[in-house]
Amino acid sequence: MRICIVLGTRPEIIKMASTIHEMNDRHEQTIIHTGQHYDDNLSRVFFEELELPQPDVNLEVGSGSQALQTGTAMIRLEEKFQEVSPDVILVQGDTNTVLAAALAGAKLGIRIAHVESGLRSYDLRMPEEHNRRLTDHLTSYLFAPTTTAANNLSRESCWGEVVVTGNTVIDACLRYKGKAEKTSTILKKVPFKSFALATVHRSENVDEPKVLFEFCKIFSECPIPVVIPLHPRTLARLRYLGLDKHLQSSENILILPPLGYFDFLSLLSKCTFVITDSGGIQEESTAPNFAKKVFVLRTKTERPEAIECGYSELVGTDSKFVLERVMKFIETTDHSFGPCPYGDGHAGARIVRFLDNASQQLTTTQSLRRSLEVLPSPEA
Ligand code: UD1
Ligand code: UDP
Repeated sequence: MRICIVLGTRPEIIKMASTIHEMNDRHEQTIIHTGQHYDDNLSRVFFEELELPQPDVNLEVGSGSQALQTGTAMIRLEEKFQEVSPDVILVQGDTNTVLAAALAGAKLGIRIAHVESGLRSYDLRMPEEHNRRLTDHLTSYLFAPTTTAANNLSRESCWGEVVVTGNTVIDACLRYKGKAEKTSTILKKVPFKSFALATVHRSENVDEPKVLFEFCKIFSECPIPVVIPLHPRTLARLRYLGLDKHLQSSENILILPPLGYFDFLSLLSKCTFVITDSGGIQEESTAPNFAKKVFVLRTKTERPEAIECGYSELVGTDSKFVLERVMKFIETTDHSFGPCPYGDGHAGARIVRFLDNASQQLTTTQSLRRSLEVLPSPEA
């Protein structure tokens, strides 16, 4: 089967890694990077560390408004898809890159396969919620990480075939933690014995001055020191509001640039707890070789499994409440967690096995294009 793998941002590279490795030369793969993330420390470093083949093409879409970024990616992807003529387009997650690839591909009659489908936050302020909902309704092969996600898909009558695979980020955690601990020197730069690891970048949070101000309070008043690898979106907003110097001057805080995966995993392994609004970090913290408490700086999450198993707690964005919850955690000695809800580290293998079978079916029926399929009508 000819498969186009489309990715564009840091988490997509990390979460697509095990599938790319697993695919090896079982299928003809073309890797298209949209260029949504373009800084070396948000893109190149991950290809190198995770030993991934270089993308066959980079479409250099770059930054912009939601529509400009999505639309530019769609136009450039359409051209590339026509040139490569894939049987399947494989995307991961919920970024603008994902929606652009799904829309451009489906309109050309190409099958879409979606890794990490079925997540729902029910928060329509999030561009990611638009992207994942729309993508799932255009997708033939829905790789849901959990049964909760699979149930969301069936509740919405998504018509593609659903397979529960586990989350590929657990594959990455299990595969790379040892290597991270051997090679990363980041801990030498951390002057604290114990620390909280924090990341924030969600647009509905950091683009809102009131919320960003609350975050600064949480970090500077946290009862233990905080290490913050800062996302460029957040750095830009802090600078715009003149809050960056305030954070940098606090003795309780270490600001770092966005880190490579090995450095980040080393910090995750050593930290006392995590404060974040990231999606992937909520999942990584449940990996059996990390098992960390996460304070999620949001009011809703599309990853409820991590809460149910005792890893994550939704604490919102009010500094007083967040600090109270952090304090309570520090004062409690018994921190036990349930089993990891995101799989056993073989999600990539399951995805590729499914594609192997799909490939055989496609060859026998010769119906390589989705345009040959008829969707069931609502009354059927
Ligand atoms: C994007 C995804 C988000 C994902 C995140 C992963 C969407 C809607 N958002 O958010 O779901 O969680 O990636 O990190 O797709 N910038 C740089 N260098 C870069 C890339 C971006 O400096 O290489 C800065 C630019 O100022 C840019 C801003 O970051 O405007 C935001 O980048 P963008 O890709 O639009 O969204 P993210 O916040 O990174
Ligand atoms: N990550 C990283 N370096 C950092 C911060 C995060 O390698 O400085 C990794 C992290 O381990 C996780 C992924 O990036 O696998 C999460 O990306 P991000 O939070 O940007 O996006 P989200 O998961 O929220 O879409």
